Amino acid sequence: VVIPTIEQHIGHVVAVGSGKGGVGKSSLVVKLAQSLRDNGFAVGILDADLTAPDIPLMLGVTRHEPARSINVWRAPGRQKAIAPVDLQGIRVMSLQFMMSERQAMAIDGHLQRMLLSQLWTGVTWGELDYLLIDLPPGTGTVQQAVLDVMPVAAALVVVTPQDVAHLDARKLVTFLGERDVPILGGVENMSEVSCPNCADTFRLFPPVSPERTIWADGVGQLASLPFDVSAFNTTADQRQPSALDNGLADVTAALTSALPSR
Ligand SMILES: Nc1ncnc2c1ncn2[C@@H]1O[C@H](COP(=O)(O)OP(=O)(O)OP(=O)(O)O)[C@@H](O)[C@H]1O
Ligand SMILES: [Mg+2]
Repeated sequence: VVIPTIEQHIGHVVAVGSGKGGVGKSSLVVKLAQSLRDNGFAVGILDADLTAPDIPLMLGVTRHEPARSINVWRAPGRQKAIAPVDLQGIRVMSLQFMMSERQAMAIDGHLQRMLLSQLWTGVTWGELDYLLIDLPPGTGTVQQAVLDVMPVAAALVVVTPQDVAHLDARKLVTFLGERDVPILGGVENMSEVSCPNCADTFRLFPPVSPERTIWADGVGQLASLPFDVSAFNTTADQRQPSALDNGLADVTAALTSALPSR
C-alpha cells in the first residue's frame, strides 16, 4: 500500500467490482455515493476504470478539450496536489478529467499502476468517511494494482442474474479471497423489471442454477435491484423516488454497519 504524502483522512476504502462488464458497477457506485451523502457521510469516488472512465458523465460532467500531455509520475516531494472535483457533493477523481471524451490512452500494466498511484496519493481527498472505487470488470492488472496501492477495506461484488455474470464473478470472489479482501456482499442488479404500462413484473434473464452462483460461494446477497426504466437519470437534481431506492437503502445500511464511520 502506498502512503499518500498529501493530507488525507479516509475512513474506509471500498471497491466495487464484477466479473463481467456492463452489469451496473458504475451506476451502483454513483447511487451508493448519493445515498451515503444523503445519510450525512463525506464520500468520494475514485474512478479506477482507466480505459472507460464513466463516473464523470454519470454525474453530469464530461470533457471535450483534448489533453496534450498527461503527467504520470512526479518525484516524491515534488507531487502537485490535484483537487478532487466536487460533483453533487461527492468528491470525484477520474482520468476522464485529464483528457477529452474522445481521447484514448494505450495503457500497459506499469502505466496503470503509476496512474492509479497518482489518483490515490496525488489527490487532496481531505476528510472522507468512505471512498468508493469503481473498478473495471474482471481480475486483471488494474484490480491487482488497486489492491497493491490502496488500502481496500472491503469489496462489493455486482452481478446480473445471468450464468456468465456469476461464472465470471466467482473468479473475482476467489481473487479477493486470495488477496484477503473481505467481501461485504453481492448486489444482484437488473433482476426484474416492472412494466411501465401495466402491473406486470417480469424477470429479464433465464434463471441461473443456484449452485453456479456467487451465493453458493458464501457471498451474502445484500440487495436485488430491479431494472429501472425511469430513474437512471443520475444528473437530475430533483430525483423522483425510484424502484431502486429500497435495495439501495439495504446496501447502504450493510456498508455503514460493517464499516462504521468514526
Ligand atoms: N438497474 C438498472 N436499471 C436500468 N439501467 C441500468 C441499471 N443498472 C445499470 N443500468 C444501465 O446499464 C448500463 C451499464 O451500467 P454500468 O455502466 O453501470 O455498468 P458497469 O458494470 O459499470 O459497466 P463496465 O463494466 O463497462 O464498467 C448503463 O447504461 C446503465 O445506465
Ligand atoms: Mg463501469
